[in-house]
Amino acid sequence: MILGMHNPIIAALDVATAEQALKLAQEIAPAVGAFKIGKELFTSAGPEIVKRVRDTGAQVFLDLKFHDIPNTVAKAVAAAVRLDAQMLTIHTSGGGEMMRAAEQAAQQTALQAGKNAPLVLGVTVLTSLDARGLAELGWEANVGKQVERLATLAAASGLRGLVCSPLEITALRKILPAAMQLVTPGIRLGTEPGDDQKRTLTPREAMEAGANWLVIGRPIYAAAQPRAAAEHILSSLA
Ligand code: C5P
Repeated sequence: MILGMHNPIIAALDVATAEQALKLAQEIAPAVGAFKIGKELFTSAGPEIVKRVRDTGAQVFLDLKFHDIPNTVAKAVAAAVRLDAQMLTIHTSGGGEMMRAAEQAAQQTALQAGKNAPLVLGVTVLTSLDARGLAELGWEANVGKQVERLATLAAASGLRGLVCSPLEITALRKILPAAMQLVTPGIRLGTEPGDDQKRTLTPREAMEAGANWLVIGRPIYAAAQPRAAAEHILSSLA
């Protein structure tokens, strides 16, 4: 790992219950930089899970992908800041006004609470959508072009970070401000049995391409020894 670099591993707590999530979080907290809480865990365990995971000392990435009118998204973002999330997601397809409202709510709520503003991350095109799916929506059918269009709008709307697939990092780095934080899932070491992630990079490849954070789920939580798996991934970045 480059000297002084933060630990870029965000371990996805993709488990069903608070008990499972907290057991995993306590075990691997020293080896990761943050935990991702997604829709399943948040919906089953409730908002309290954010505070309980924060109690392990790690940062929390609340991945609820807000998409609504600007006023509603702003209020949801403010609530996430009060829960003490350090990163959260919104859909860039909600539009520029929605993104500006989200970023402003993050900054203002954090200021009032005496915290650092969380990183509001824009999601561009879901990786489950292909050219046909985009055309069905009446969108630009070229996935790469649509990703670039939404990413450019996100930057112009004041967002300081984006979620992107590993294979989008290089193209996005060419068109985005250098300070834009890129968070990427789809990370595999190449040694695990096949699963549903098709377009993957190794942790090292993704960092070298320009990612700032790596979202890693199954390679850690489904490993026989999750803590050792996280430590192994971290050492692969050295
Ligand atoms: O288990 P795995 O490493 O594939 O988990 C990746 C995590 O990143 C999951 O929480 C998944 O929902 C999320 N994610 C993804 N691909 C995207 C967006 C999010 O895998 N395009």
